[in-house]
Amino acid sequence: MTETQDTQTSESVEELKSAAVAALNSADSSEKLEAWRVEFMGRKGRLTSLLRGLGSFAIEDRKIVGAAANRLRGELESLYEDRESDSKSSQAPVGSIDITLPGRKPALGGLHPSTQMIREITQAFNEMGFQTIEGPEVELEKYNFDMLNIPADHPARDQWDTIWVDSDTHDDVLLRTHTSPMQARVMEENDPPIRVVVPGKCYRYESTDATHEWHFNQVEGLAVDEGITLADLKGTLYEFARRVFGANRKVRFRCDYFPFVEPGVDMSIDWNGGWMEIMGAGMVHPKVLENAGYDSSKYTGFAFGMGPERISMLRNEITDIRHFFSNDLRFLTQF
Ligand code: PHE
Repeated sequence: MTETQDTQTSESVEELKSAAVAALNSADSSEKLEAWRVEFMGRKGRLTSLLRGLGSFAIEDRKIVGAAANRLRGELESLYEDRESDSKSSQAPVGSIDITLPGRKPALGGLHPSTQMIREITQAFNEMGFQTIEGPEVELEKYNFDMLNIPADHPARDQWDTIWVDSDTHDDVLLRTHTSPMQARVMEENDPPIRVVVPGKCYRYESTDATHEWHFNQVEGLAVDEGITLADLKGTLYEFARRVFGANRKVRFRCDYFPFVEPGVDMSIDWNGGWMEIMGAGMVHPKVLENAGYDSSKYTGFAFGMGPERISMLRNEITDIRHFFSNDLRFLTQF
């Protein structure tokens, strides 16, 4: 009798186990999992009633069946936990797109602040009839210095500490120190009238600080024709300042020296109660015209050169020119 009852009850633990495992495996949603938990493991569930029924067993049987039922409870609990965490992770697989999230803006690129400034400057001159052209950054000594009236022994060459392509031989190939060599190249290739602006990178062999970079942009300008005077230079640059800095901007011209202009000037704009120098300029030196094959008794012209980074620093209150080329998005995304 004892043996029979033992066998029957043991079987019913087994039965409960196979029923519970089958039902758990087919519970394919969180609702079904919860229903399973209530049916088998809940306070009025099948496992609980099996354990409650133990009271009617003989003491020997109670121990055996009770131990089997408690083992089953442990097994079912851990199976249930596994299924539950599986179903949670399958609802939101890692790395998948959650289409229920609100839309987010994709990150958009933009023009570099130097490029924006260059375009604004060149556009102002384009509207006054100047054409935008570009020239080589790797340049010949001849164009960078000689044709601009800066001979090899001229002290003015000290103004442009040069990066030579071959630093041992100092042969005649260098990284241009300014955009002015394009004055010579344009005149060599074209007859007057000429009106061009030339944006581009320049390089200097010097240590950097808040106002000096070893590479930077310049925008060069050149106008050559019959009868061009200093008044044309001043009028054109004044109009440029009005377009880029505003209609009420005051400008100031002072004498300055560059070997390729005569007379030479620098132009400043009024800024916070003081004067800020924004470019060098002047009437193209007769020797530069002659070097390019022009008749300097017939043609005259003016030239100017400015640094777009410096102008952008002024306008945007940027205190260190090195920000332009350090590629820090915290800086670049402000433009
Ligand atoms: N090339 C000169 C510089 O780099 C600027 C300049 C250009 C001055 C044209 C006069 C005329 O400083």
